[in-house]
Amino acid sequence: MKRLVFPETAVGAGVPFLRSLLVEFPTSSEDMGFFYDFLAILILLLVLVDADNNSIRNGAEGYCNYKRSLNPRPHSVTITEFGAVGDGKTLNTVAFQNAVFYLRSFADKGGAQLYVPKGKWLTGSFNLISHLTLFLEKDAIIVGSQDSSQWPIVEPLPSYGQGQDLPGQRHRDNGTIDGQGLIWWEWLNSQTLNYSRPHILELVNSIDIVVSNLTFLNSPAWSIHPVYCSKVEIQNIIIHASFDSPFTNGIVPDSCSNLCIEDSSIEVGHDAIAIKSGWDNYGITFSTPSTDIHIRKVHLQTPLGSALAFGSEMSGGISLVYVEHLYIGNSLTGINFKTAPGRGGFIKNIVISSLEMENVHNAFWFTGNSSRHPDEQYDPDALPVIQQITLKNVVGTNIFTAGFFSGIENDPFTGICLSNITLSITSDLPFSWSCSNVSGYSESVFPSPCSDLTSNSSLFCFSLEDFSTLSDA
Ligand SMILES: *[C@@H]1O[C@H](CO)[C@@H](O)[C@H](O)[C@H]1NC(C)=O
Ligand SMILES: *[C@@H]1O[C@H](CO)[C@@H](O)[C@H](O)[C@H]1NC(C)=O
Ligand SMILES: *[C@@H]1O[C@H](CO)[C@@H](O)[C@H](O)[C@H]1NC(C)=O
Ligand SMILES: *[C@@H]1O[C@H](CO)[C@@H](O)[C@H](O)[C@H]1NC(C)=O
Ligand SMILES: *[C@@H]1O[C@H](CO)[C@@H](O)[C@H](O)[C@H]1NC(C)=O
Ligand SMILES: *[C@@H]1O[C@H](CO)[C@@H](O)[C@H](O)[C@H]1NC(C)=O
Ligand SMILES: *[C@@H]1O[C@H](CO)[C@@H](O)[C@H](O)[C@H]1NC(C)=O
Repeated sequence: MKRLVFPETAVGAGVPFLRSLLVEFPTSSEDMGFFYDFLAILILLLVLVDADNNSIRNGAEGYCNYKRSLNPRPHSVTITEFGAVGDGKTLNTVAFQNAVFYLRSFADKGGAQLYVPKGKWLTGSFNLISHLTLFLEKDAIIVGSQDSSQWPIVEPLPSYGQGQDLPGQRHRDNGTIDGQGLIWWEWLNSQTLNYSRPHILELVNSIDIVVSNLTFLNSPAWSIHPVYCSKVEIQNIIIHASFDSPFTNGIVPDSCSNLCIEDSSIEVGHDAIAIKSGWDNYGITFSTPSTDIHIRKVHLQTPLGSALAFGSEMSGGISLVYVEHLYIGNSLTGINFKTAPGRGGFIKNIVISSLEMENVHNAFWFTGNSSRHPDEQYDPDALPVIQQITLKNVVGTNIFTAGFFSGIENDPFTGICLSNITLSITSDLPFSWSCSNVSGYSESVFPSPCSDLTSNSSLFCFSLEDFSTLSDA
């Protein structure tokens, strides 16, 4: 058996499939009724969750160590009961929508499972709901329709202002969701898209989500996009999109707190994991950081992108991110921090430890010049704060350049700490580190970094122990 996506008490989730209606303001009046229902549920959930929220902060151990037990759903229906046909040709959008609509009535009765048996189930977008387990049997494949009219148009997220291009459950062995992104990549490359591309799984304003034991293939854009969520576990996931697919990110935690990504493997065309929190003035106004994030035992590969990226949309702030046991192979950039004047916000209190890199062009890349803006309304004086970032216990082989640090004039990146890092460099450039407008500390780093990173005291280095104190604050 394979298992799917399941929010334990989620307010909404979406597959191209899954999108919640909470903040996306659907257009028809019928959908608006649905929206308000969800709003009511959300408020209740928030109250419930607040009661025990403090006990599960990241702490020095990281959020992945917080595991909750999942109760079996007392009710289950099979997608074929709603007329779906798993022949890979019949369009099943209405069947999925009807099944999810029917299962809403079980939300207060312990929730329900939507069971998808072996087969190829072609569908357009449908929404997930609270207290739902979407369970894919082994060899069950949900296939995204290539008809763009099957993917409804929704408003941009409030923390972005613009489009980017222009739960519940339990169980084992994995099913597959195939976004059939090729046609979307061609539309993007040929500039014939009318709207930004969809993601495979978008979880909006949701709490207590588990996504596990699934394979995500060929997303039109991103594979998993949790936005404005908390308590999200992503485990045993395989994500694959062809390496030349344009801007296909893997997992994008976006203005989320208490999130774990573990035991997963991601190979995509752009950033494998990108932590974000809104874009320029929209993100500053929305002001919802990505915080208390734990990533461990993950394999990343992206020959044209960054394995682990922070930003460039980080205007709501990013903090308390703990990454351990990360393997990065065959990638353009290993660890990438991206920001720009106009972003505002912050990236701070980050620890990345036990990192192995092989065949990586740029091991560490920090730039203050990611100059794409949603529109001309941004404030160039809104300067981001980039500080207290620790990179330690790193081994790299076949690395071309070690580190590029380019801070912002009059707004340097500070508190960058490098410790116990050994990189074998293949380029014959005279220096493999480049630094401007940056300060920090380093010890046991080979080859030796620029002097900007050797001038400070290790007392300034952010450490794991600091997580507990800051998490409780
Ligand atoms: C995922 O699969 C593993 C191994 O089969 C299993 O132990 C685990 O319970 C599954 N996770 C869920 C949420 O079903
Ligand atoms: C999921 O499928 C992939 C690819 O077929 C396989 O490598 C992996 O072991 C499977 N995971 C589980 C938990 O069965
Ligand atoms: C964009 O809109 C045009 C005109 O309505 C339509 O013909 C075309 O199919 C649309 N493109 C996509 C990718 O949906
Ligand atoms: C920032 O990037 C832009 C576009 O790539 C370039 O034109 C500009 O010179 C860069 N500015 C700095 C200060 O590096
Ligand atoms: C240095 O990093 C390597 C690789 O992660 C690790 O095996 C080793 O224990 C670290 N050494 C110290 C002193 O922490
Ligand atoms: C040392 O680091 C601290 C904290 O990041 C910073 O406030 C200070 O300006 C730095 N000092 C030097 C000389 O770089
Ligand atoms: C800071 O950055 C600006 C623009 O990139 C550059 O002109 C300046 O030399 C840098 N300052 C230092 C101290 O590196």
